[in-house]
Amino acid sequence: MVRLPFFLFASTAAIGAALLAAWTLTAAAWWTVCLLAAIAGLLALHELMGRPIPFLRWSVIRMMLGRKTLLKDWQVGDGREAGAARYVIANAAAGDPHAAIQAIDTYAYTRRFLINVGDEKGAILDAVVERSRPRTVLELGAYVGYSALRIATKLPPGGRLWSVELSRDNAAIARRIIEHAGVADRVTFVIGHLGDGGATLAHLQQACGLVAGSVDVVFIDHAKDAYLPDLKRLLDARLLHSGSVVVADNVRFPGAPEYRAYMESEEGKTWTTQVHETHAEYQTLVKDVVLVSRLL
Ligand SMILES: C[S@@+](CC[C@H](N)C(=O)[O-])C[C@H]1O[C@@H](n2cnc3c(N)ncnc32)[C@H](O)[C@@H]1O
Repeated sequence: MVRLPFFLFASTAAIGAALLAAWTLTAAAWWTVCLLAAIAGLLALHELMGRPIPFLRWSVIRMMLGRKTLLKDWQVGDGREAGAARYVIANAAAGDPHAAIQAIDTYAYTRRFLINVGDEKGAILDAVVERSRPRTVLELGAYVGYSALRIATKLPPGGRLWSVELSRDNAAIARRIIEHAGVADRVTFVIGHLGDGGATLAHLQQACGLVAGSVDVVFIDHAKDAYLPDLKRLLDARLLHSGSVVVADNVRFPGAPEYRAYMESEEGKTWTTQVHETHAEYQTLVKDVVLVSRLL
């Protein structure tokens, strides 16, 4: 709700400007000001209706405008990721990971949109971790640590999550949240990526103790074109075992077509896959697919 006054102010100002322009501007400028007033009014109305359409949320529009930065630095560029950590620390009791998850969801729904797996798809991930009772989970892509929190709350005693994150800044934010939530003993963020010529894989094997056949669950949620190559790197390194489960987010939106085609072609041969038809995070307009694949 914090942005509502901004939109009410902006729309009132824009409508006022339109009325003023009716007396003073040329026809073209008049129509431009009217159009801006209509957009501002629409956005204000949408805020008042509880933001049902994601593309009309200012924080989503801002994210789409900063798409290039997002895909390069993996932060939107307006400080929303660091803001999420501040919000969790201010609003969730220290040592309570469930409260931290809730706080991030509230922030993403009501303050600024985040590219977490979100609550709806997060429930699919929860169920996999609960069912698999993994000793070792590997995550590719931490962002602000939301999915890491969800995984941490579902790990059995002694279970560990290793989360590989490309961005040092995102890893620092995720670490701050995980520490506040009191699950840092179960979660380790590794800065790097599996496509770096073997350095990150070697670190996982030598420093983190990921030996052959030791990874029970993998959550893939990083660069969409890296899904398949990175899965193949894990297979080549023999880190998975028969029965290991791989959960892949965003397979429909933004989409990981090569990964999906691979799982379809391997169905019943090396993998068996459940397709979960769901929605992209924090809204119900855009559809998404999560694949849950078990190594045979
Ligand atoms: C969609 S977000 C992850 C969301 C997180 N799993 C969650 O649900 O809370 C993608 C993250 O992957 C990271 N990333 C991008 N390419 C990567 C790569 N090749 N290896 C590891 N992390 C990567 C980005 O920096 C970003 O933080």
